[in-house]
Amino acid sequence: MNDTFEKMDKMYRYQRYFYDLTRKYYLLGRDRLIDEMAIKSGDNILEIGCGTGRNLAILAKKYPESNFFGLDASAAMIETAEGKIKSKSLSNVFLKVALADKFAFDATFGLTDKFDAVFFSYSISMIPPWRESVDNALENLRSGGVLYFVDFYDQNGLPPWFGKMLTAWLRMFHVKYPADLIPYLRILEAQNAGKLTLFSFFKGYSFVAKFEKS
Ligand SMILES: C[S@@+](CC[C@H](N)C(=O)[O-])C[C@H]1O[C@@H](n2cnc3c(N)ncnc32)[C@H](O)[C@@H]1O
Repeated sequence: MNDTFEKMDKMYRYQRYFYDLTRKYYLLGRDRLIDEMAIKSGDNILEIGCGTGRNLAILAKKYPESNFFGLDASAAMIETAEGKIKSKSLSNVFLKVALADKFAFDATFGLTDKFDAVFFSYSISMIPPWRESVDNALENLRSGGVLYFVDFYDQNGLPPWFGKMLTAWLRMFHVKYPADLIPYLRILEAQNAGKLTLFSFFKGYSFVAKFEKS
């Protein structure tokens, strides 16, 4: 069995109880991403590494006519997310324990069509096979669909001590700023796989990227 399941479960077994409360102070830009997403009635949207289901619950309430899917390597996180979805009586959210680089829209979620949008919210920075995960996300996205990311950025506008401190702290959570991600998306764009739009905020603390698949 893939040890990512075990590793993520171990990390989040207890953290999941205070995750939403603490992360709102430093997983910045998640609401910005939610505002960016153009979702139509009937769309199927997937979050990869959905954690406690915080983003999916907001989206599902905002767009009751669309369907939201989430996957996570941690069964404990999925259990917490299931509880949240149930307590909010949301009937348009569907969750699975699965890996970012291994899932498939049909085998994992029983769908007949690929997703209309897929997003990674502060998850790509903790997935070592991130390239394979981006490729798999694109493989499961329909042509014309959008792949979104929000995550830590280069900290360029912030004092160097801040960047160093943040990097050291994030390492404790197996999180690493994905420095090669944007160049990789630019390569895909140059190969005509899609169109990239990127913006960063809070002085380079975070970024939102939007990749429209050709
Ligand atoms: C920092 S949390 C972000 C949770 C949520 N997206 C949010 O914005 O609050 C990252 C999540 O990614 C999950 N994760 C890590 N590696 C993964 C992988 N290879 N496949 C699927 N999920 C993964 C973790 O279990 C964790 O729940």
